[in-house]
Formats: sequence, structure tokens, C-alpha cells
Amino acid sequence: MSKQVKDYSQYFVAPDLKAAKKRGKEEVQVIQFEEIPENMREVGKGKNYLIETYGCQMNVHDSETIAGILERMGYSRTEREEDADIILLNTCAIRENAEDKVFGELGRLKQLKLENPDLILGVCGCMSQEEVVVGRILKSYQHVDLIFGTHNIHRLPVLLQNALFSKEMVVEVWSKEGDIVESMPKVREDGLRAWVNIMYGCDKFCTYCIVPYTRGKERSRRPEDVLDEIRELARKGYQEVTLLGQNVNAYGKDFTDREYTFADLMDDVRKIGIPRVRFTTSHPRDFDDHLIEVLAKRGNLVEHIHLPVQSGSSEVLKLMARKYTRERYLELVSKIKKAIPDVVLTTDIIVGFPGETDEQFEETLSLVKEVEFDSAFTFIYSPREGTPAAKMKDDVPMEVKKERLARLNQLQNEISRRKNEELRGQVVEVLVEGESKKNPNVLSGRTRTNKLVNFVGPKHLIGKFAYVRIDEPQTWTLKGVWVEEKPLAKVGG
Ligand code: 5AD
Ligand code: SF4
Repeated sequence: MSKQVKDYSQYFVAPDLKAAKKRGKEEVQVIQFEEIPENMREVGKGKNYLIETYGCQMNVHDSETIAGILERMGYSRTEREEDADIILLNTCAIRENAEDKVFGELGRLKQLKLENPDLILGVCGCMSQEEVVVGRILKSYQHVDLIFGTHNIHRLPVLLQNALFSKEMVVEVWSKEGDIVESMPKVREDGLRAWVNIMYGCDKFCTYCIVPYTRGKERSRRPEDVLDEIRELARKGYQEVTLLGQNVNAYGKDFTDREYTFADLMDDVRKIGIPRVRFTTSHPRDFDDHLIEVLAKRGNLVEHIHLPVQSGSSEVLKLMARKYTRERYLELVSKIKKAIPDVVLTTDIIVGFPGETDEQFEETLSLVKEVEFDSAFTFIYSPREGTPAAKMKDDVPMEVKKERLARLNQLQNEISRRKNEELRGQVVEVLVEGESKKNPNVLSGRTRTNKLVNFVGPKHLIGKFAYVRIDEPQTWTLKGVWVEEKPLAKVGG
């Protein structure tokens, strides 16, 4: 199968710290999603789409938008790739192994494309924002029909039209990153919990991270749009929302027409009658006292904060350009714990950052012991082309990095287990999501602090709140028994 391939190099800007840091002076444009063009409204009738999503919640939610657009074009969802007329891989670029998985998958799907030449195979998400990746697909994966970037999702109807009717690979990746597109259709995964974007992009430029290049500059949705969306979700019966942003604590800093921060937004969301509100992800640097004050009012604002620390060594944090020290992080943690004594803190940690010494790694272990996170996502540093850290000298052997990761995980698991043990015998509020994946006789759901609980109880509890007594705490999950059903309470004003 050979396809004509245009020269797309003009569309790309390789990750370049200097160029990217200059961005962002122009005003953010809020544009409305344009209705599907007349000739594309029925194009998917009787046809199916399948989206494979990799990476973070932002991608999961983008996939819900992509699904929404495809369904407006008449397509139906399928989980079986043999039945699919369109397969889209919504990709993640955060670490090399995430990218390897996608290339493996593209290789595997070649056979399917040979068997079904009408199949449209597309790549979107963070990897498609990288020039090297697109170059590699153009060269070695010519069975791909469509590549579009994270700023081009709203253009899908037009792009798909081109892919369906042209013999060329369709590529549209804008490095232009200023806009916010409102009113995009969405097919949410379930009717209980919903993701809500509050901002896009990231301007923090931590030296290891590719996100500021793949997701563009920081820009906040207007509060009225966010609040309207949450009110609408509450009306539809959703019980939980998670506010999404790469760095939610920077919310509102880009507004030129008003002073309105993330704390103000949380205070307003608190007044909406939706039982649980979460947010992710926080940057410790922008986490201010006003926010702590608002979170301490509780109500629908849950007692869980994901607060990535990345390292316990001030020297490493400096090289990472995190712009806080170990001491400042610990200070923030103690302020939060003082205001919300039963808070559950979770974190992200990178081991094996270029040049990390044994002593510096020990500082990470000691910070983990001191804070006592309930759980942590832990990673071995992965160099990302174009980021400043990729150019730093890295003399730590992979074996040592793996050993550090194992030691860190062992420590964290002991702490997680101990923390969960404290819940033995306690009755917790669980939002019941459904049957457990492993055993249909067991129900599963989450506490306000986002802990997974498996318990035996009647099926009518699904979609409701239940009180569950924890009788078997484990490292990653809690087992319990149903005590009583909680009537759906109206929380807030
Ligand atoms: N290598 C390893 N981990 C990374 N993360 C981000 N970039 C990298 C990288 N280059 C981790 C950070 C971040 C989480 C989402 O992924 O811990 O908080
Ligand atoms: Fe990456 Fe998060 Fe740092 Fe932004 S704040 S650069 S997304 S690690």
C-alpha cells in the first residue's frame, strides 16, 4: 500500500524551550464548535468507530469529545476492531514506553488495514504534536490515514472528510495553541462521574516534561462556561465531577478582564448541588492559602489532593525547574494537614533524574516517610527529545534507577498498607460504580478520598451512595460489607 505523502514540515515547530517561552502574548480566543457540515452528518450511518486511549485523564476526556463528534456524524461505538470503520489511537508522549506501545499497536493494525482497505486508521493526542513522531509515521507507517493534533480535535469532521475522499495521508497539527473551543459534543463514559476541563496547556516547563510543548500554553476556560457545564451535569444526575487541568492551580492567571483564581472557582463549584468535586493535577508552587481555606469548607469538595512532588531533594527540584524546595513542599503539606486533618495526599515521583545521587534519592525516601502519602505514581525518568533535561548529563546506570524505583515502591506500599489499615472497622461513604471487574457478585466504588472499595451488597446500590464497613484493608484496595444505603443528599446550596 503506497500513499502520496506531502511535505508537512512547515506545520511543525520542534520542541524548543526558547521559542515556547516567548509564546502566549496574544489574547485567548474563545470559539464555538461549528455544527457538522451538512454533507458529513450522515456519513457514519451504519458505521462504527473505536478509540484506543493512552495516557492521562485529559486524553480520556478528549476521547469523549472525539466520540461525541463522531456520533454527531452518525457513527456508533464498537469495542471490536473487526467491526470498526474508523480506529483512532489517542496517544500519550509523557514517557518513551507510552510511545513504544503506540508504535507497536500501529504495526499490529497494519494487517487489519490490509484486510479492510476502507478502514480509516488515525493517530491523535500528544504524540501527534511531536515532529519526530509524525516524521516516523510518514516514513514507516504509511497505512495510517489521518494524523491530527491536540489543538485540532474540533476540525475532525473536515479532516475525516479529507481522509475518506483523498488518497493522501491527512495531517493537521497546529502548533498554534491560543484558542479554547466551547460547546463541543461529548459522549461521557458513564452517567455518574464526569470530567470537566477547566484549563488547557501548561507554562511551567519542568525540564523533563514534554507537556508544555504538546498541549500548548496555559489558558483557562471562562468560569461561567465551567460552572454552567457542572450545573448541567448536576441536573442530568451526575454525582461526581473531576475538574481537569495540567496545572489547575494556575487557573485564571491568564484572564485579562478579571481577577478570578482556582480558589474562587472551587468556592463557586461548592455551591452547586453535585455531591462530589475532585480536581487534578496540582502544582505545589501555585497552591495558595486561599485554596486551602476553601477546601477546608468541605461539603462537596472532597478530602483528597494529588500533589506531585517529583523529588525530595531541593537540588534535583532545582534542576527540574519545579521552583520550590523540599522545605517549601513540606511546609505546604503541613498547612494542608492542619486545615484538613483527615486529608488524603497522593503524589507523583520521578527517580533517576539525570545525575541523581544516592544521597539525593535518599532524600526522596525520607520525604515520602515524612509526608506519608496514601499512594504514589512512581516513574523512572525518561528523556524526551527537545526538553532541557534531555541534554543534561546522565551517568546513573539503568540498573541503579530500577533498584531505586523498587526501593521507593516497597516503602510506599508499606505506608499505603498502614494507612489503609487505619480504616479497619470504619464505615465509609462509597459512590457505587458497578460490579467489580473480577467478580460480578461483588460491587465496587470509591470513597471521597478516591480509595477503591469492593464489597458485597445488593445490585440496586449501583449509581448510589452506600455506607460500607471496611473489614479487610489491603495495599491498593479496601474490602468491606454494606451497612446501609445513603439517600442521595443535596450538597451545597
Ligand atoms: N520521565 C518520567 N516521568 C515523567 N513524568 C513527566 N515527564 C516525565 C518524564 N520525562 C511524570 C511526572 C508527572 C507525571 C504525570 O508523569 O511525575 O507528574
Ligand atoms: Fe509537566 Fe506538570 Fe511540570 Fe506542566 S507542571 S511541565 S505538565 S510536570
